[in-house]
Amino acid sequence: MNDSRGANRVQDGPLPIVILISGRGSNLQAIIDKTANGELPVDIRAVISSRPDATGLAHARQAGLETRVIDHTTYEDRETFDQALQTCIDSYRPGLVVLAGFMRILSPGFVNHYRGHMLNIHPSLLPDFPGLNTHQRVIDAGSREHGASVHFVTEDTDGGPVVLQARVAVRADDTANTLAAKVLEQEHRLYPQAIHWFAEGRIFLDENGRIHLDGNLLEHPETLSEDTSAPC
Ligand code: GRF
Repeated sequence: MNDSRGANRVQDGPLPIVILISGRGSNLQAIIDKTANGELPVDIRAVISSRPDATGLAHARQAGLETRVIDHTTYEDRETFDQALQTCIDSYRPGLVVLAGFMRILSPGFVNHYRGHMLNIHPSLLPDFPGLNTHQRVIDAGSREHGASVHFVTEDTDGGPVVLQARVAVRADDTANTLAAKVLEQEHRLYPQAIHWFAEGRIFLDENGRIHLDGNLLEHPETLSEDTSAPC
């Protein structure tokens, strides 16, 4: 991986990134939009989908981005799929791999190869509600608060150190669908912000699995406030 640390990293030019998707691609679109309007200093080298029918591929093509499909159904096991994926990703020499609705469990070797250089976004306030169907599970649990988290990817699925979260209130009349919409709106602010921090060299994961933000140990995830565009 390219080393993306360093306080003045952005002065070396935009951070090369590769984005992995499996479906709708709305977070991808948010990243594309922020990049296109000059708010996000990244160079999206490629968008790779695990599914040939992912609608996010159309967003990428519309934006003139290079797209690749590594169809997981054509590989006999996780390791051979991950190896093909890794070879493809590395051919673009990214400094950061961005999982944006990438619906595959990744093998430890793959995850460790990108350690400290791979982010994921998850629709819950981790460590609460890892896994699938988070919105319904939040309602079933009677939680008053929900949200989304951006975290570094580690071998522990949805369990890596959390960088940034956005919170939404759960109302009595919320359904899984209304909650999903509210959380997704926050995701589209949250992910570009976390990527921005990484691109500027403001966050990194140390060898002990702890996040540093602006040179200080991040004891708790940062929270993106509801009413402003981003913390500074
Ligand atoms: C998002 O809810 C994200 O948190 C989760 O998968 C979903 C992807 O949505 N990991 P989209 O494909 O970006 O629209």
